[in-house]
Amino acid sequence: MDHFDYRDGAMHVEQVPLDTIADAVGTPVYVYSTATLTRHVTVFRDALGQIDNPLIAFAVKANPNAAVLATLAKLGLGADVVSGGELLRAVAAGIPANRIVFSGVGKTQDEMRLALDHGIFQFNLESEPEAEMLSAVALSMGKRAPVAYRINPDVDAGTHAKISTGKSENKFGIPYDRAIASYAAARDLPGLDVQGVAVHIGSQLTDLAPLEAAFVKVGVLVKALRAQGHDIRTADLGGGLGVPYDPAEPIPPSPAAYGAMVTRVTQGWNLRLLFEPGRVIVGNAGALLSRVIRVKQGASQPFVIVDAAMNDLLRPSLYDAWHDIRAVKPSGTRAAANVVGPVCETGDTFAMGRDLDVVQAGDLVAFMTAGAYGATMANTYNSRALTPEVLVSGNQWAVVRPRLPLETLIAGDSVPDWVNS
Ligand code: LLP
Repeated sequence: MDHFDYRDGAMHVEQVPLDTIADAVGTPVYVYSTATLTRHVTVFRDALGQIDNPLIAFAVKANPNAAVLATLAKLGLGADVVSGGELLRAVAAGIPANRIVFSGVGKTQDEMRLALDHGIFQFNLESEPEAEMLSAVALSMGKRAPVAYRINPDVDAGTHAKISTGKSENKFGIPYDRAIASYAAARDLPGLDVQGVAVHIGSQLTDLAPLEAAFVKVGVLVKALRAQGHDIRTADLGGGLGVPYDPAEPIPPSPAAYGAMVTRVTQGWNLRLLFEPGRVIVGNAGALLSRVIRVKQGASQPFVIVDAAMNDLLRPSLYDAWHDIRAVKPSGTRAAANVVGPVCETGDTFAMGRDLDVVQAGDLVAFMTAGAYGATMANTYNSRALTPEVLVSGNQWAVVRPRLPLETLIAGDSVPDWVNS
């Protein structure tokens, strides 16, 4: 459920008409709803109501905007970070270090040092060489790093190949069959305090079965590790729960169903559970607002050329992702159209043959469910400005990232003297 609704023939986010934001800030622009964020946090937390003291660490990569993070921090969420930049953003937003988990296959020494300095809750290690490096870095600082190994359970998440992470051929985690040996080696590393097991098999999962299969494997491993004398106190079950994008598709499992499955599977584990939800918290809380530049006749259907492009919302071109596209002021007449951006690639296509309200030049459209992996993946391809962001709460709204002038973008480059000599 979200707080983007039609009132008096125009889409509003909470109490603010979207055209007010478009007129004031220009388009394209991301718009987020605080009420939706809050609701999703509550729903997710309630779903884990039977679990003692879970740590819900929001996957910052899904939406790292400072205002979004501060909103989530106020609601008590922790953070799952994958870079020094994300760590600094989480800390700056007020997320306490003891609620921060550091994931990722390529942590550098500098990033390890930064995270150790802040005293984060847990490093999720993804390889033995990484464990050795972290141990050395921690020792050099006179510290012990709290760690879990992320295991690769070799489970097919049944999602898009580019966002599947739990198959043995994927780069993530340590092979399940080697886990006992890897943990034994980690125990001998004096800079590490081995406290947990972690898993994350992919994103936009629409079936609980692969998640359950992965969690069952974690449970088996926890038992085996304890039998070997490891003091396992945490299990990080990752993120991955899908959200509805296409109303014609079956609705993904609810957080409540997910929570019930987790509660059942983890019964008796006797440790602290960690979660790393991203999309399910922010996905439906954001839309990308865009204006139609012109409508061009196509071979069979019209091309609706909007001022948002693949650089603003990469998901359709990268993963063939489906985003609902709604007219902000629906005309009431519907017809099939191709919705494209101005970037010079055929991949800059949001939808082909989409049934849509008929729109004209100057009309506003909203790309729905764009709060996760939207602005965070935006770039400046074709020398387009980075997409600005707006946060709404009730009848208030604020620009939480401005549209920087193109001059700023260009001024970032410099030309060595010898080029012009
Ligand atoms: N934890 C780890 C270790 C992750 O790698 C991810 C996402 C998450 C948690 C959060 O997963 P979520 O709950 O959001 O599914 N750009 C892609 C999604 C990439 C996800 C990467 N990892 C997209 O636009 O669909």
